[in-house]
Amino acid sequence: MPQLPADLPELLEQVRADVAGRVGAGKVADYIPALASVPGDRFGMAVATVDGRLHGVGDWRERFSIQSISKVFGLALTLGLDGDLLWQRVGREPSGGPFNSLVQLEHEKGVPRNPFINAGALVVTDRLLSVTGDATGAVLELLRGETGEPGLGVDSLVAESEAAHGDLNAALGYFISAHGNMDNPVRSVLAHYFRQCAISMSCGELAWAALFLARHGSLHDGRRLLSEVQAKRVNAVMLTCGAYDAAGEFAYRVGLPGKSGVGGGILAVVPRLCTVCVWSPGLDEQGNSIAGVAALERFADLTGSSVF
Ligand code: DON
Repeated sequence: MPQLPADLPELLEQVRADVAGRVGAGKVADYIPALASVPGDRFGMAVATVDGRLHGVGDWRERFSIQSISKVFGLALTLGLDGDLLWQRVGREPSGGPFNSLVQLEHEKGVPRNPFINAGALVVTDRLLSVTGDATGAVLELLRGETGEPGLGVDSLVAESEAAHGDLNAALGYFISAHGNMDNPVRSVLAHYFRQCAISMSCGELAWAALFLARHGSLHDGRRLLSEVQAKRVNAVMLTCGAYDAAGEFAYRVGLPGKSGVGGGILAVVPRLCTVCVWSPGLDEQGNSIAGVAALERFADLTGSSVF
C-alpha cells in the first residue's frame, strides 16, 4: 500500500516545478467557443486524502469548466440510484476512438461502447433524467453536498456556447434515439448533458467531491453512493476508458483511474488513498491536458501510487 508523504504541499511544489516546462503546451479547446478564451498558462493541482487532508498548488482554487469529468459523477449517480440495468444500454469497453466519434454507433446499433465517450454519456444522462426528473440538478446536488459549496453551479455561457455548436452531439443523440436507446426527447437530454459539462469547479473542489471513489463508494457523511463493487467498477472504467483513444497511454504513463475533460482538467483516483485533480488548459490531439498528464505521471512516480 503506497503512503503519501507527510509534507504533501512540498510534494505538490516539486511536481509543479518538474512539469513547469509543459504548461502552455498544446491547444486550448476552441470547438466550444466560450472555452477558447481561457488562458493557456494556468496550472493547478490538488490532492484530497481519505484521512481528510486537502492540499493544492498553483491555481488549484480557480474554477474551470469540468466538461467530461462530469461524466464520472453522472455515471456514479446513475449506478447508485438505478443499479446495473444501465449496462444493458451502454458498454464498458474502450472505444479506441475520439470522444465524439459516430462510427461505432452504426455497427453497434446505437449502444455506445462506454459511458465516457459522448454517446455513452448521453445514454447515462437519459437514464439519470428518467430516474430523477432532473439530471443536472441531481449531479449538482451531489457536488454541492460533497463540497459543502452551495454556490457551485453551471456556467450558462459555456452551456449555451456548446449548445449553439452542438450539432455533432445532437447527431449522436438522434442516432441513439433512432435505435430505440433513448427514453426522453433528445433535445432535453442534450440540454442536460451540455449543462453538466458546463459546471465550473476548482481542482480542490473536484478532488474533494470525488473522494467517494477512493473510499469504496462512501460519501463524506458516511452514506453510500456506490457499493464497494460498484466503486471498483467505476474506477475500472475510468482506467480503461477515461482518456478515450489515449487511455492506453494514460495507463502506461500514470497507471491510475482517471477522467479528462476538454476544459483541461483531469481527475485521478488512488483507490483507498486519495484523489488528485489537475488543471492546465493546453490539450493534446486526443483532448487531454498535456501538463496535466505529465503532472499525474510525476505524482504517481514520486509517491509510488500507480495501481500497477
Ligand atoms: O461534448 C463535448 O464535446 C464536451 N462537452 C465534452 C468533451 C470532453 O470533455 C472530452 N474530454 N476530453
